[in-house]
Amino acid sequence: MRIAVMPGDGIGPEVIAETLRVLDALSLPGLVLIEAEAGGVAYKRHGHPLPDETLEAARSADAILFGAVGDPTCDGLERSLRPEQAILGLRSALGLFANLRPAKLFNGMEDASTLRPEIAQAIDLLIVRELNGDVYFGEKGTRRLADGRRQGWDLMSYAEDEVRRIAHVAFRAAQGRNGRLTSVDKANVLETSQLWREVVIEVSADYPDVTLDHLYVDNAAMQLVRNPGQFDTIVTGNLFGDILSDQASMCVGSIGLLASASLGERTTDHGTFGLYEPIHGSAPDIAGQGKANPLAAILSLAMLLRHSLGLEREALRVEAAVAAALADGVRGGDLGGSDGTRAIGDAVVARL
Ligand code: IPM
Ligand code: MG
Repeated sequence: MRIAVMPGDGIGPEVIAETLRVLDALSLPGLVLIEAEAGGVAYKRHGHPLPDETLEAARSADAILFGAVGDPTCDGLERSLRPEQAILGLRSALGLFANLRPAKLFNGMEDASTLRPEIAQAIDLLIVRELNGDVYFGEKGTRRLADGRRQGWDLMSYAEDEVRRIAHVAFRAAQGRNGRLTSVDKANVLETSQLWREVVIEVSADYPDVTLDHLYVDNAAMQLVRNPGQFDTIVTGNLFGDILSDQASMCVGSIGLLASASLGERTTDHGTFGLYEPIHGSAPDIAGQGKANPLAAILSLAMLLRHSLGLEREALRVEAAVAAALADGVRGGDLGGSDGTRAIGDAVVARL
């Protein structure tokens, strides 16, 4: 079992260090870790945010454990050299089109949410975000209009097969949950969304046991804070999924708690090849201070164990240890507490 480990930038290395301590505590036999550079750190050392060696390491592995990328000192670089290209490049080069972002309120965390406790306690949803298409990967540029004004432009599009494959992932996910799927689009304005909706409806014929409904993204954003308990599984495009998943994270208390899996079609000996990362970014403002909450990264490891290594029992152990630490009052700064990165890692390891 080979895991490529890419700590990345900012708080990435700190949260990944604690995650590796958790992995170590599981004492899994036959595990090989390959460390690889990605993001601003890779640009500074190799002149590219996603060097060939990193892509090779990724391809040779069963799974990738990813920290975060993003570095404000790289903001002036041309887009193809910015740290974010590392994660976007991996998602696209490796065909990781299905992004699973679960959001569930942990016991005892009702007060951490910015929503009222009785509303927050009902949150148990899964966002299935398409990851290889949309305005993220369309042609883009800046140009001069005839009258001399500058114009920025980005092409949004989805081909039907791209919608179909993510819809299948989402319907299957809904079957494994409460059998309800909400497709989020902006079909009242966008052609891209109109086709999205049509294709999702076509695919629904294969899943008579799943109840499908549709929401416009503005309404979905509103419903997510009004009554998040109404959602089971949500499927949406790359851009809307990016936004709604950050919003969902705050509903459960902190972006420091949300994990993600990015999966494609390639299988491994034990499951599906995938990339696992906390949904938070590199948080340069607190990087290097030992303040970051490593729980989202640790929960991403649990998803890795489950989806890529077929180790469901170990995944549940890690999730239970995180839940127990939170139930015992372990809180990072993101949750109004004072426990540092290392202390939180210790707390999880102790409960394993
Ligand atoms: C995420 C992040 C990325 C995205 C950035 C870092 C490119 O916000 O994984 O949600 O927009 O997809
Ligand atoms: Mg995001």
